[in-house]
Amino acid sequence: MASEQSSLKLKINGPTQLSIEDGAGRRFGIHPLWLRERCQDAQSMDLLTGQRLQDPSDFDLDLRFSALSEPGPGQLHVRFSDGHEADFAAGDILAEAAIPAGEHDAPPCQLWTGTLTDLPRAEWRPNPTDADMTVWLERFLRYGFIIFSGVPPVNHEVLKVALAFGFTRETNFGTIFDVRSMPNATDLAYTPVKLDAHTDNPYRSPVPGVQLLHCLANETTGGLSTLVDGYAVGEALRERDPEAFHVLSTTPVRFRYRDRVTELTASAPPIELDVSGRIKTIHFSPRLDFVPLLPPEELTAYYRARRVFDHLLRTSEFEIRFLLNSGDLVMFDNCRLLHGRTGFDPQEGLRHLQGCYIDIDGPRSRWRVLRRNHAATSGSAS
Ligand code: OGA
Ligand code: ZN
Repeated sequence: MASEQSSLKLKINGPTQLSIEDGAGRRFGIHPLWLRERCQDAQSMDLLTGQRLQDPSDFDLDLRFSALSEPGPGQLHVRFSDGHEADFAAGDILAEAAIPAGEHDAPPCQLWTGTLTDLPRAEWRPNPTDADMTVWLERFLRYGFIIFSGVPPVNHEVLKVALAFGFTRETNFGTIFDVRSMPNATDLAYTPVKLDAHTDNPYRSPVPGVQLLHCLANETTGGLSTLVDGYAVGEALRERDPEAFHVLSTTPVRFRYRDRVTELTASAPPIELDVSGRIKTIHFSPRLDFVPLLPPEELTAYYRARRVFDHLLRTSEFEIRFLLNSGDLVMFDNCRLLHGRTGFDPQEGLRHLQGCYIDIDGPRSRWRVLRRNHAATSGSAS
C-alpha cells in the first residue's frame, strides 16, 4: 500500500471534477455522491462500528464538489455543495474505487485444469501463526482448495480445521458427518460406489459454501478423490459450445433430497451467473437433478447441454485425482469446485472420512483481517 500511495495521483480539474490515477495509469472518475457516502467523520458515521449514521438516500441528488484541495501528498480535502467538509486519504479512495463491480477484495481465482501438478498442499499445524494462515488462505482462495496432511486422524479433528477458517454450517446430517460404507445408507456417499463429479447439497438454499473431508482411515486401494475446477470447465463450455452454456445458465433445475424425516428441494441453473455474467455457483449432481417438464425442444437442448458439460467434467483434461491417506484433509469451495471419488471395495478394509461444512465468508474474512493486521504492523495506512 505504501508504494501505491506514492505512485497514485489525484487529479483536480477545476473545483468540481475529481479523478484518481493509480501507478499503472488506470484512471477513476469520482462521483460526488459516491464520495459523500464514504465520509468517515463523526457526523457521517459511528466511529466505533464504522457504520453510516445518515441515510445516503437523503443526500441531494445534484450534490457537487464545491471545493477540492490537496493539503499534503496523498491527502484530499473536500467541501460538498451541502456544506459538509471531509478529509480523505487518496490511497483509501483508490483501494475502494479499484474493486470491480460485483467483486470483493480477495485473491483472484486462478483457474486450473487436469495439468495442475503442483497441488496446493500444506502441513497442518494445530496453532497456526498468522504467516501460516495467510499462506494457506491464499492457496485456498486462489485454487478453490487446499490439501492438508498431518491432521491427527481422530474423531472430530475436522472441526478444529474448520474453526481455524470459519464457522460450521450444521445440516440435517449434523455438524459433522461420517462418510463410510454402511448398510441402509441414506446417501450414495455412504456406499462404496464411485461418485461422479458433483457439488454437495444443491438441494439446499443457500448451498454449503465450503466442504472439508478428513480421512481417518483408508485401507482400500480405490476411493481416489477427484476434483474439477467448475469455473474452468464452465469457461471452456462458454467458449466451445455457447449454446450449451446458455442453456445451462438459464434453465432452473430442481434438486431434491429425501429421507424419513427430511425433504429438501431447491432450484438453480447448473451454471449460475452473477449480474455481470461471471460464473458464480455451479449446482451439479447427476444423482439428484430433476429438470422441470419444459417444452420438448427445450428439454432436448437441456439434455444435450448437460451431457456436453458432464462429459467435460469427467475428462482428464480437467480432472485431478489424488489419494487421501489417514491424516489428510481436503477443504474446497463447493460453489466453484466439483468433487467425487472412484469406487472402492469395502472387503479390502475400512475407508472412513469425516466431513463438515463452513461458509465461504469465513476464509475470506480471515484473509482480509490478516491483511489488515499485516498492513497495520508494517506501517501502511491501509
Ligand atoms: C461426500 C463425498 C467423497 C468421498 O461425502 O459428499 O462426495 O471421497 N464424498 O467419499
Ligand atoms: Zn460430495
